[in-house]
Amino acid sequence: MKPLRILALAHPDLIPPDNIEGLSESETYVWKTEYDVSTTLRASGHEVRMLGVQTELAPIRDAVEDWKPDIVFNMLEEFHGESLYAQNVVALLELLRVPYTGCNPRGMMLARGKDLSKKLLKYHRVPAPAFAVFPMGKKARRPGRLKFPLIVKSLWEDASLGIAQASIVDTDEKLAERVAFIHKRLNTPAIAEQYIEGREIYVGVLGNDRLQVLPVWELSFSNLAEGSHAIATEKVKHDPIYQEKRGILQGPAQDLPPSVVTKIRTLAKRISHTLELDGYCRIDFRLSKDNVPYFIEANPNPEIAASQEYAQAALHAGTSYADLLNKIVMLGLKRAGVEL
Ligand SMILES: Nc1ncnc2c1ncn2[C@@H]1O[C@H](COP(=O)(O)OP(=O)(O)O)[C@@H](O)[C@H]1O
Ligand SMILES: [Mg+2]
Repeated sequence: MKPLRILALAHPDLIPPDNIEGLSESETYVWKTEYDVSTTLRASGHEVRMLGVQTELAPIRDAVEDWKPDIVFNMLEEFHGESLYAQNVVALLELLRVPYTGCNPRGMMLARGKDLSKKLLKYHRVPAPAFAVFPMGKKARRPGRLKFPLIVKSLWEDASLGIAQASIVDTDEKLAERVAFIHKRLNTPAIAEQYIEGREIYVGVLGNDRLQVLPVWELSFSNLAEGSHAIATEKVKHDPIYQEKRGILQGPAQDLPPSVVTKIRTLAKRISHTLELDGYCRIDFRLSKDNVPYFIEANPNPEIAASQEYAQAALHAGTSYADLLNKIVMLGLKRAGVEL
């Protein structure tokens, strides 16, 4: 690919330092995606300018108009601290008519609500846990059809914010407590879903119209504390020391019957199409004991540090990290109709 001018958008706190020598894994962890993406694209010959944005739009507009990047590499997950606004920044990029990587704003909106995505997917016969939504300021009253155990989450936050062992509840009292906790701590409505005991499965999808499905990936828990549930809590996702202690490993899902692999791959494509996701996304499932893949959520623009699930699955499929990033850039250019 010819060298491009790439404007990389990120949260201002996540602009990596130039030199990371001597920093521990815990220190580099938060901005690992931003670091890996910018350094790898530079090593591929592109000119990369990092731009931290969070409360002002003018810097985006100025950089696009003055520097004229070929494409914006979008790593922004929130604006004004609101994850719901991430899609609006992408909408702005569309209005500025600058090509960008990752998902379009409509897909981001459809995937965001953990209720809306499941409602849409039901029409397309994608298995998903039963659920109920508890709006802010309302007490949690469980519909009779919803049976314990349940897992209580924020309706739209991600990164496992508010997800801990206490999220799994088996009484109405605990349900009410956890719903109140989500309302108060995260300031969002809560969703309670049927808890699917089983395996944690991630599937990377790459493409705009023609989709490439990456190898079926699994997060496994080899050394859980007695009585703990195998779920991706905040600590499981973001605390390298805890990961080591609890034997949390990611890798290709082992010993799945071929028919189940086929089913998961077909569902991942159907989900991406239904939710209008493009660029790159990761679809998360829980695979029940009887091998039914339940849709949990779709993540447009998932984290793509070289060591994380998405890039590792791509590598397993024979796509190097640099090739993956260049492909993501190419998909953004293609969507915008840029001749390659
Ligand atoms: N219905 C469910 N059944 C079983 N585990 C679940 C369910 N919903 C969420 N989890 C667990 O909680 C984790 C985080 O939930 P998720 O909806 O993906 O939120 P986030 O957007 O914060 O990642 C999942 O990766 C999974 O381990
Ligand atoms: Mg998730």
